[in-house]
Amino acid sequence: MKSATHESVIVAITGASGAAYALRLIQRLANAGIFQHILLSDAARVVLKQEADLSLPEMASLTPALAEYLNVSGDLMRCYTLDDWFSPAASGSAGIKKMVVIPCSMGTLARIASGASDNLIERAADVMLKERRQLILVPRETPLSSIHLENMLKLSRMGTDIIPAMPGFYHRPETLDDIINFLVDRVLDHLDFANPEAQKWGE
Ligand SMILES: Cc1cc2nc3c(=O)[nH]c(=O)nc-3n(C[C@H](O)[C@H](O)[C@H](O)COP(=O)(O)O)c2cc1C
Repeated sequence: MKSATHESVIVAITGASGAAYALRLIQRLANAGIFQHILLSDAARVVLKQEADLSLPEMASLTPALAEYLNVSGDLMRCYTLDDWFSPAASGSAGIKKMVVIPCSMGTLARIASGASDNLIERAADVMLKERRQLILVPRETPLSSIHLENMLKLSRMGTDIIPAMPGFYHRPETLDDIINFLVDRVLDHLDFANPEAQKWGE
């Protein structure tokens, strides 16, 4: 475990398929000493149970439970309820510069694109957009409708990084871990935190 830095990031998990991407990203950021504000939609809990067999407890013990499951320090993360309007993620004045929604459901994507701000994930993303800070979305759906594509285009034109959960195969993945790491490395590259574990093309 490396020592904590002053950097922090909001990691939001929504109910699209690909819970393993979120778990790996949280693990890698914790190992890199980055503080994480973690937001979890109700649908994300359903998908975590379905895809990772992970039943998370209620909010009071969520942070330690997640840290224990991922075998990382709970000192570097904090989970919030989606109506915690007093949390740092809810306001631009808290100064958090980066946010990732991973995986990002088409529902959350649409609500971010419309500026709904109806829960803390949507509000935090809205803050990133209005403050012109970094917002990364990792959408997962197939096929994509014109509504999905238009929402992505709208957000992309506002400076959002759209990093679809689309694995590449040119690095010749042999395990599911290789495929998960491939995407998480791309997200970490864009977050621009030090990522010494990343596999780089051409090395
Ligand atoms: C197992 C499972 C897999 C799902 N996969 C996707 C998906 O890949 N993409 C998507 O947009 N929605 C997916 N959904 C549907 C979303 O969970 C649903 O639209 C939900 O309302 C999204 O809520 P949220 O955006 O608040 O997380 C999935 C649901 C379940 C239970």
